[in-house]
Amino acid sequence: MKLLVTGAAGFIGSTYVHLVHGEHDVVVLDKLTYAGRRENLPDGVELVVGAIEDRDLVRQLVEGRDAVVNFAAESHVDRSIAEQDAFARTHVIGTGVLLDAVRELRVPRFLQVSTDEVYGSIPEGSFTELSPLDPSSPYSATKAGGDLLVSAHAHTYGIEAVICRGSNNYGPRQYPEKLIPLCVLNAIHGDPLPVYGDGRQVRNWLYVEDFCRAIHAVLERGRSGEAYNAGGPDECENIAVVRRILELTGRDESLIEYVRDRPGHDRRYSLSSEKFRAELGWEAAVRFDEGLRRTVEWYRENEWWWGPVRSGEYRAYYERHYGRPLAS
Ligand code: NAD
Ligand code: TYD
Repeated sequence: MKLLVTGAAGFIGSTYVHLVHGEHDVVVLDKLTYAGRRENLPDGVELVVGAIEDRDLVRQLVEGRDAVVNFAAESHVDRSIAEQDAFARTHVIGTGVLLDAVRELRVPRFLQVSTDEVYGSIPEGSFTELSPLDPSSPYSATKAGGDLLVSAHAHTYGIEAVICRGSNNYGPRQYPEKLIPLCVLNAIHGDPLPVYGDGRQVRNWLYVEDFCRAIHAVLERGRSGEAYNAGGPDECENIAVVRRILELTGRDESLIEYVRDRPGHDRRYSLSSEKFRAELGWEAAVRFDEGLRRTVEWYRENEWWWGPVRSGEYRAYYERHYGRPLAS
């Protein structure tokens, strides 16, 4: 297939391109925000720097492609609470621009990468694809807006479009604003590990390569107009994640620092992957303990990657958000 993959200079999209580029012809469109980096992509993959809201550029790149896979996003909940504009622009306007181009230029397939957060928080049990969307943050509300536009375009214009929703991802090349890479790098440097509220919130962790295999299965075999939920094999309280990171980095619990909770913090996410398993035969392969071990090892061995990230914009964000500078 000739694929246009948007947002693939970021964490999950770049992992997806590493997975498929030998077998498919890939062009990447990415705005290179603070979270996007050319070095994340494999050598030889064409990167066009630009925004998915740019109609003319999108039309040029979409023409002649067999499918568009949309990863482009502002992906951090805390940043969406501080400033929402870019979230609405990319997730709603940008997704709409991609869908228009797919329809007008008759691209055979569109895949929207989405998140469990569109369903909101669930105290027990797991969300299915039939659960109502009930997002709580500006991040998840605008992601839900994008998803609804995808369904509306499939319904109204009959375009071939599918949605793949994943639970919390982790793994190599994740920007260190998210819980796991932030805590791994802070532990390596001896900086405190900030835990929001009581630390008893639960996330359903999915290793990034498992999510990318899921996305590709939906692209190739998912039924048009449908969503597929890809949940991780294990759920875990945040405080347990932080403790495990301390063990894996040889640090003690004195580095744990309880900090002010996130406003509107979702208590628990959980996705049922039953439809995915039954229809497409996908299941997550990497258990959390193994994935976390691999992730910590990758950060230990790849200072070339995080050295430049842990300066400039990131330090300024960290100080603004946590009210203290990084010590190291
Ligand atoms: P990321 O922040 O690492 O990467 C996002 C990429 O999108 C960056 O390269 C950025 O430059 C690019 N981008 C942002 N706005 C753009 C625009 N307007 N036009 C073009 N490119 C733009 O995010 P990620 O964690 O890799 O997430 C990728 C996708 O997966 C997102 O759609 C996200 O909602 C979804 N998702 C993420 C998780 C997770 O745990 N991180 C879980 C489930 C789903
Ligand atoms: P995060 O990685 O931001 O992902 P999401 O908000 O999309 O689930 O956060 C994962 C969990 O960790 C979430 O419950 C918030 C919590 N958290 C902390 O306790 N401290 C932190 O510094 C961060 C960034 C997150």
